Amino acid sequence: MRGFCIYKKTNDNISLKSYLGEIYEQLIEFFAAIGKQVEYYEILINANWKVVVENALKSYHTWFAHPNSLSKYGTAKKDYLLYKQHSIYTSNHTKLDRKRDKLLAMANNRSLKIDGYQHYFVLPMLTLATFSGMSLTAHVIEPLNATTTKAINYRFMGKLNDDTLEEILFNMNSQSTAQLTRVAWEEDKPICEQVQLGLSEITEKMEFLVEKNSAYMNFIKPISNL
Ligand SMILES: [Fe+2]
Repeated sequence: MRGFCIYKKTNDNISLKSYLGEIYEQLIEFFAAIGKQVEYYEILINANWKVVVENALKSYHTWFAHPNSLSKYGTAKKDYLLYKQHSIYTSNHTKLDRKRDKLLAMANNRSLKIDGYQHYFVLPMLTLATFSGMSLTAHVIEPLNATTTKAINYRFMGKLNDDTLEEILFNMNSQSTAQLTRVAWEEDKPICEQVQLGLSEITEKMEFLVEKNSAYMNFIKPISNL
Protein backbone atom coordinates (compact mmCIF):
# COMPACT_ATOMS: atom_id res chain seq x y z
CA MET A 1 0.00 0.00 0.00
CA ARG A 2 1.17 3.53 -0.79
CA GLY A 3 -0.68 6.44 0.71
CA PHE A 4 -3.14 7.00 3.48
CA CYS A 5 -6.42 8.89 3.70
CA ILE A 6 -8.30 10.31 6.64
CA TYR A 7 -11.99 11.12 6.93
CA LYS A 8 -14.39 12.68 9.39
CA LYS A 9 -17.32 10.58 10.58
CA THR A 10 -19.44 13.24 12.26
CA ASN A 11 -22.09 14.76 10.03
CA ASP A 12 -22.14 18.27 11.54
CA ASN A 13 -21.81 20.38 8.37
CA ILE A 14 -18.17 21.14 9.24
CA SER A 15 -15.84 19.96 6.50
CA LEU A 16 -12.71 17.97 7.32
CA LYS A 17 -10.61 20.87 6.03
CA SER A 18 -12.37 23.35 8.33
CA TYR A 19 -12.06 21.00 11.29
CA LEU A 20 -8.32 20.61 10.69
CA GLY A 21 -7.80 24.36 10.24
CA GLU A 22 -4.18 25.46 9.97
CA ILE A 23 -2.75 21.98 10.46
CA TYR A 24 -4.37 20.92 7.17
CA GLU A 25 -1.44 22.13 5.03
CA GLN A 26 1.06 20.35 7.29
CA LEU A 27 -0.88 17.12 6.90
CA ILE A 28 -0.92 17.47 3.12
CA GLU A 29 2.90 17.63 3.21
CA PHE A 30 3.10 14.67 5.57
CA PHE A 31 0.83 12.44 3.47
CA ALA A 32 2.61 13.44 0.26
CA ALA A 33 5.87 12.16 1.80
CA ILE A 34 4.56 8.64 2.44
CA GLY A 35 6.47 5.88 0.62
CA LYS A 36 6.28 2.11 0.77
CA GLN A 37 4.39 0.55 3.67
CA VAL A 38 6.59 -1.20 6.23
CA GLU A 39 4.09 -2.52 8.70
CA TYR A 40 0.50 -2.79 9.89
CA TYR A 41 0.30 -3.45 13.59
CA GLU A 42 -2.57 -3.56 16.13
CA ILE A 43 -2.36 -3.63 19.89
CA LEU A 44 -5.13 -3.88 22.50
CA ILE A 45 -4.80 -1.76 25.62
CA ASN A 46 -7.01 -2.27 28.66
CA ALA A 47 -7.67 1.43 29.19
CA ASN A 48 -10.14 4.04 28.07
CA TRP A 49 -9.21 5.67 24.77
CA LYS A 50 -8.78 9.06 26.45
CA VAL A 51 -6.05 7.60 28.66
CA VAL A 52 -4.21 6.41 25.55
CA VAL A 53 -4.60 9.80 23.84
CA GLU A 54 -3.51 11.65 26.98
CA ASN A 55 -0.40 9.49 27.23
CA ALA A 56 0.53 10.31 23.65
CA LEU A 57 -0.01 14.04 24.24
CA LYS A 58 2.39 14.14 27.18
CA SER A 59 5.76 13.95 25.48
CA TYR A 60 7.71 14.12 28.75
CA HIS A 61 6.89 10.48 29.49
CA THR A 62 9.23 9.50 26.65
CA TRP A 63 12.46 9.72 28.69
CA PHE A 64 11.26 7.32 31.34
CA ALA A 65 8.88 5.06 29.43
CA HIS A 66 11.07 4.60 26.35
CA PRO A 67 14.70 4.79 27.54
CA ASN A 68 15.88 2.09 25.12
CA SER A 69 13.62 2.82 22.17
CA LEU A 70 12.40 6.34 21.29
CA SER A 71 14.77 8.11 23.70
CA LYS A 72 17.80 6.44 22.12
CA TYR A 73 17.52 8.78 19.19
CA GLY A 74 19.05 11.61 21.16
CA THR A 75 16.38 14.25 20.94
CA ALA A 76 16.31 17.15 23.36
CA LYS A 77 15.10 20.54 22.15
CA LYS A 78 11.35 20.58 21.86
CA ASP A 79 8.99 22.92 20.07
CA TYR A 80 5.21 22.88 20.11
CA LEU A 81 3.07 24.48 17.47
CA LEU A 82 -0.60 24.75 18.37
CA TYR A 83 -3.36 24.77 15.78
CA LYS A 84 -6.49 25.17 17.93
CA GLN A 85 -7.07 21.68 19.36
CA HIS A 86 -4.42 20.11 17.11
CA SER A 87 -0.67 20.44 17.56
CA ILE A 88 2.75 19.49 16.25
CA TYR A 89 5.64 18.64 18.51
CA THR A 90 9.21 18.65 17.19
CA SER A 91 12.28 17.36 18.96
CA ASN A 92 15.56 17.99 17.15
CA HIS A 93 18.45 15.56 16.95
CA THR A 94 21.28 16.40 19.29
CA LYS A 95 23.42 13.25 19.43
CA LEU A 96 25.94 12.42 16.76
CA ASP A 97 24.95 9.18 15.07
CA ARG A 98 27.05 8.10 12.09
CA LYS A 99 24.59 5.47 10.84
CA ARG A 100 21.69 7.91 10.93
CA ASP A 101 23.73 10.66 9.28
CA LYS A 102 24.75 8.25 6.53
CA LEU A 103 21.13 7.27 5.89
CA LEU A 104 20.03 10.92 5.86
CA ALA A 105 22.79 11.77 3.38
CA MET A 106 21.66 8.91 1.11
CA ALA A 107 18.08 10.13 1.39
CA ASN A 108 18.86 13.78 0.79
CA ASN A 109 16.19 13.92 -1.89
CA ARG A 110 13.39 12.80 0.44
CA SER A 111 10.06 14.63 0.33
CA LEU A 112 9.86 15.58 4.01
CA LYS A 113 13.05 16.99 5.52
CA ILE A 114 12.78 17.35 9.28
CA ASP A 115 15.66 17.62 11.72
CA GLY A 116 14.70 15.05 14.32
CA TYR A 117 11.43 13.59 15.53
CA GLN A 118 8.07 15.16 14.79
CA HIS A 119 4.70 14.15 16.21
CA TYR A 120 1.35 15.47 14.93
CA PHE A 121 -1.69 15.35 17.19
CA VAL A 122 -4.93 15.43 15.23
CA LEU A 123 -7.55 15.27 17.92
CA PRO A 124 -9.38 13.30 18.90
CA MET A 125 -8.08 9.97 17.61
CA LEU A 126 -5.21 10.29 15.15
CA THR A 127 -1.53 10.86 15.73
CA LEU A 128 1.21 10.92 13.11
CA ALA A 129 4.94 10.74 13.61
CA THR A 130 8.12 10.89 11.58
CA PHE A 131 11.82 10.45 12.16
CA SER A 132 13.49 13.00 9.88
CA GLY A 133 11.02 12.21 7.09
CA MET A 134 12.75 8.82 6.72
CA SER A 135 9.94 6.84 8.34
CA LEU A 136 6.35 7.96 8.80
CA THR A 137 3.72 6.47 11.07
CA ALA A 138 -0.02 6.89 11.53
CA HIS A 139 -1.57 5.75 14.81
CA VAL A 140 -5.36 5.45 14.92
CA ILE A 141 -6.95 5.20 18.36
CA GLU A 142 -10.16 3.12 18.29
CA PRO A 143 -12.34 2.76 21.41
CA LEU A 144 -13.78 -0.77 21.73
CA ASN A 145 -15.57 -0.23 25.04
CA ALA A 146 -15.17 1.91 28.19
CA THR A 147 -11.93 0.25 29.23
CA THR A 148 -10.50 -1.28 26.06
CA THR A 149 -8.82 0.55 23.21
CA LYS A 150 -7.30 -0.67 19.99
CA ALA A 151 -4.30 1.21 18.61
CA ILE A 152 -3.90 0.67 14.88
CA ASN A 153 -0.52 1.54 13.42
CA TYR A 154 0.53 2.04 9.83
CA ARG A 155 4.22 2.54 9.25
CA PHE A 156 5.79 3.72 5.99
CA MET A 157 9.17 4.56 4.60
CA GLY A 158 9.61 8.18 3.52
CA LYS A 159 9.26 8.91 -0.17
CA LEU A 160 12.66 9.58 -1.75
CA ASN A 161 11.65 10.35 -5.35
CA ASP A 162 14.03 7.58 -6.44
CA ASP A 163 12.58 4.06 -6.71
CA THR A 164 15.94 2.28 -6.63
CA LEU A 165 17.12 4.15 -3.57
CA GLU A 166 13.76 3.60 -1.87
CA GLU A 167 14.18 -0.13 -2.39
CA ILE A 168 17.73 -0.09 -1.00
CA LEU A 169 16.77 1.88 2.09
CA PHE A 170 13.65 -0.24 2.56
CA ASN A 171 15.82 -3.36 2.71
CA MET A 172 18.33 -1.67 5.02
CA ASN A 173 15.98 0.05 7.40
CA SER A 174 12.43 -1.33 7.35
CA GLN A 175 12.88 -4.10 9.93
CA SER A 176 14.37 -1.83 12.58
CA THR A 177 11.83 0.91 11.97
CA ALA A 178 8.91 -1.55 12.27
CA GLN A 179 10.39 -2.97 15.47
CA LEU A 180 10.49 0.51 16.99
CA THR A 181 6.72 0.94 16.65
CA ARG A 182 6.03 -2.35 18.37
CA VAL A 183 8.47 -1.79 21.22
CA ALA A 184 7.17 1.73 21.92
CA TRP A 185 3.55 0.50 22.15
CA GLU A 186 4.54 -2.45 24.36
CA GLU A 187 6.17 0.10 26.68
CA ASP A 188 3.14 2.43 26.68
CA LYS A 189 0.56 -0.33 27.22
CA PRO A 190 1.30 -1.10 30.93
CA ILE A 191 1.46 2.61 31.76
CA CYS A 192 -1.99 3.26 30.29
CA GLU A 193 -3.38 0.16 31.99
CA GLN A 194 -2.03 1.25 35.39
CA VAL A 195 -3.58 4.70 34.94
CA GLN A 196 -6.90 3.06 34.05
CA LEU A 197 -6.81 0.93 37.21
CA GLY A 198 -6.36 4.08 39.27
CA LEU A 199 -9.16 5.88 37.43
CA SER A 200 -11.57 2.98 37.79
CA GLU A 201 -10.88 2.75 41.49
CA ILE A 202 -11.16 6.46 42.24
CA THR A 203 -14.32 6.79 40.16
CA GLU A 204 -15.93 3.99 42.17
CA LYS A 205 -14.96 5.63 45.46
CA MET A 206 -15.85 9.16 44.40
CA GLU A 207 -19.39 8.06 43.52
CA PHE A 208 -20.07 7.98 47.26
CA LEU A 209 -18.20 11.16 48.14
CA VAL A 210 -19.11 13.65 45.45
CA GLU A 211 -22.47 14.73 44.17
CA LYS A 212 -23.07 13.09 40.84
CA ASN A 213 -23.69 16.37 39.03
CA SER A 214 -20.57 18.11 40.36
CA ALA A 215 -17.94 19.55 38.06
CA TYR A 216 -15.47 16.89 39.22
CA MET A 217 -17.78 14.03 38.33
CA ASN A 218 -18.57 15.59 34.99
CA PHE A 219 -14.85 15.69 34.30
CA ILE A 220 -13.94 12.20 35.44
CA LYS A 221 -17.04 10.27 34.30
CA PRO A 222 -16.31 10.31 30.59
CA ILE A 223 -12.91 8.79 31.30
CA SER A 224 -14.27 5.66 32.90
CA ASN A 225 -17.59 5.49 31.05
CA LEU A 226 -17.33 5.97 27.33
FE1 LIG B 1 4.94 6.53 24.72
